[in-house]
Amino acid sequence: PAIVGLRDEELALMEDALHRLHLEMENDFAQRQCQLPPDEAQDLLLQKEVFNLPSCYSNREYLNAESAALCQEARNRLSSSLLTEQRQVRQSLPLWRQRQKIVDMIAKNQVIVLTGETGSGKTTQVPQFVLEDHELNGTGAEVRIVVTQPRRIAAISVAERVAWERGELLGKSVGYSIRLESVPPRPRGSILYCTTGILLRRLQGREGVSGITHIIIDEVHERDLETDFLLIVVRELLQNYPSIRVVIMSATVDSSIYTRYFDYCPAIAVPGMMHPVQVYYLEDLPSLMGQYSFIVPKFPKARIADDEEVDVDLIANVISWIAEAFAQTDGAILCFLPGLDHIIMVKERLLKMPGGRRLMILPLHSQIPAGEQRSAFARAPIGLRKVVLATNIAETSVTIDDVVYVVDSGKMKEKQYNPALNMNILRVQWTSQASARQRQGRAGRVRAGFCFRMYTSQVFGSMLEHQIPEMQRVPLEELCLQIKALAIVATETTPSGGPSKHSNIVSFLLKALQPPNINAVHAAIRLLQDLGAIDHLEDLTSLGMILAKLAVPPRFGKMLIYGALLGCLEPVLTMAAAACFRDPFVAPINKRDEADRMRESFSVGLSYGSDQLALVNAFEQWAAASLQGQGLLFCEQCFLAPITMKLIAGMRQQLKKTLAEAGIQEQSIRLSVQASIHVARSLLVAGLYPNIASSEFCRESRGIKHAPRWRLGFKVRNDRVLIHPTSVITEKQLNPESHYYLVFQEKVQTSQVFVRGCTLLPPLPVALLSWKVNLCSDPVPPELPGDWMVLEVEGWLKFLIDRRCGHVLLQLREA
Ligand code: CDP
Ligand code: MG
Repeated sequence: PAIVGLRDEELALMEDALHRLHLEMENDFAQRQCQLPPDEAQDLLLQKEVFNLPSCYSNREYLNAESAALCQEARNRLSSSLLTEQRQVRQSLPLWRQRQKIVDMIAKNQVIVLTGETGSGKTTQVPQFVLEDHELNGTGAEVRIVVTQPRRIAAISVAERVAWERGELLGKSVGYSIRLESVPPRPRGSILYCTTGILLRRLQGREGVSGITHIIIDEVHERDLETDFLLIVVRELLQNYPSIRVVIMSATVDSSIYTRYFDYCPAIAVPGMMHPVQVYYLEDLPSLMGQYSFIVPKFPKARIADDEEVDVDLIANVISWIAEAFAQTDGAILCFLPGLDHIIMVKERLLKMPGGRRLMILPLHSQIPAGEQRSAFARAPIGLRKVVLATNIAETSVTIDDVVYVVDSGKMKEKQYNPALNMNILRVQWTSQASARQRQGRAGRVRAGFCFRMYTSQVFGSMLEHQIPEMQRVPLEELCLQIKALAIVATETTPSGGPSKHSNIVSFLLKALQPPNINAVHAAIRLLQDLGAIDHLEDLTSLGMILAKLAVPPRFGKMLIYGALLGCLEPVLTMAAAACFRDPFVAPINKRDEADRMRESFSVGLSYGSDQLALVNAFEQWAAASLQGQGLLFCEQCFLAPITMKLIAGMRQQLKKTLAEAGIQEQSIRLSVQASIHVARSLLVAGLYPNIASSEFCRESRGIKHAPRWRLGFKVRNDRVLIHPTSVITEKQLNPESHYYLVFQEKVQTSQVFVRGCTLLPPLPVALLSWKVNLCSDPVPPELPGDWMVLEVEGWLKFLIDRRCGHVLLQLREA
């Protein structure tokens, strides 16, 4: 890279031109933003389709006629012999007996809390009870029930189930809506299952809650970020909408935390139909195992109380003992472990044991391809004992029917965000008591079962009652941006009575069930201010409005906008879309090396390795293969999850549309593929800054070459990090004589501090595109006038930098 000085007059011309360009960009945002009413953005168009009512529905007569028809339909349904099976199934659910009571409670109270074990019928029955009651009363056409689900898959499968129970196809009285996909039900007299995010977006729009009569917030015990957010929003709504009915549903028995939150609202707990599960703690095992008791360590043993430790030998021994001791009775063994590494260790130990050949060992983990995951549901062939080694994915999201024995390590892996270090800390730690009970319950689905806890009753007593809510564990910038975009917050009143122009993010979040760490909120606000999404008064800027609508992590949203303006949208679309979903690269347990090599192969040909660009490459090849009908085959060969690839493709389309709706068109002059790769790489810096590390090669010592190390930021600090092993960037690609920078998406601490989602860069784009970088440490060409400096990078990008404010103006030239 060369730093070139220009002659004064050239400089003045360029400075002027670029300055105007820059101003134009900013004006453009503002103007286009003004012309566009917020509800016309693409995602809101989708909302219209899902939520809005045709005008004829406001007509009272029409409504009455419609209700009468629904009433007749409901009567026919109840007497239909075609639905006998459905009726029998529904009537066998624990919730059925409470039907009238639940309906009455909902009618009489604005908010109620309903708790009941997993499988008792909450999700499928409660909305139906309400709808059926109104249908039979002749007010069916007036209800519009929205049920939120934290997970996409659950929303679809439950909607399908309920449509089946009503003897219909989806899209009549039952529908679903998840991001990128929806089958809306008819506008009135219907149930919509949607993800929490979909309802939140709807509430952000102008029409807010109007048209909805019942909001059912399901699975609140999971305490995911969006559900906790929705709880705040709904609680704020209640006063202004006295007729709306809200049902909070949870699988944990203790409802007091929710009832208190909603001003001591009434609660109903539905008794379950689980078979009893006998629980054994670690201290119970020696007497239980008799001659085998030697496999249990003596007490008290420090390593078992240790937070980090998982005793895989003990766990493997107990599993094999269960298989022997209960040889007469069948039933699968489900073992909960913290992560894939522990699953592999236990599997290896089990296979080495004498009885290992009589076990059918099935790992269940989110990184395992879907096909392999499904085998956990298969029945074991005669003579084999099924052993499922799972993470907490099997706690609530996946149900294996034939489990009779649960072996609970008591541990899980959990990410905890540390705002001071801007780092996610991934640790193995004790689960909560609530999780332990949920794990135990998995043994009692078919008949009376057994749960073996690999910890003492004392440890159980010291576990947290509930897990830490997501709001207290993750970075909050996306949430804070959504809060600013909420209409409800904008109309909040000031102490003097007038509406406040800028509502306070902190005071809003303090209203949460369990408010987040204040430092995390401040870190998020600072990041949003750095990105230019909110100003120093915390008011949403025009850029911020677009970022909120894009609904991707704000850092990637900004990259998208610059990508569009600079004529290299395509790769940035893929990177931003991918940032919304889990990593599409999967690793089958016995082919991990092969999968790693395949992933690295997508980075070959890039002069600087990059995880994001490897993914862009993989996506483009997949898209080409899909056009030939070879998409699935390609995924199989390249260890990619086809579902995630499709989601990324759908998301790209949606992002493109949202950008267009916001008036941001891609530059008509597109960059060449080669140049756009360069620019995309640099835009990663623009978006992810200050997540930057620079290389530091250790000299060879006594003939041993050491792996390169990386230090964070530009200044010499002691923050050393390693590139995560899943990265495509390997030591081989690095020349120890060169100096590299890398930009990363996330810093995670496990045994060491790793950076994930990395892209290598030559030094200049880093210095230039990291907007507010202080360039003082770099040499400034003495011939440049004033506070401006001009830099040219590899012939395709030219910069003007205002050293007073760190503003960067840039010009692109085709290479
Ligand atoms: O919400 P909760 O866990 O209380 O139960 P649910 O989801 O309403 O499920 C009630 C019953 O419906 C379950 O025990 C399943 O037998 C059945 N079900 C199903 O077969 N397929 C689904 N997608 C959902 C539920
Ligand atoms: Mg449920």
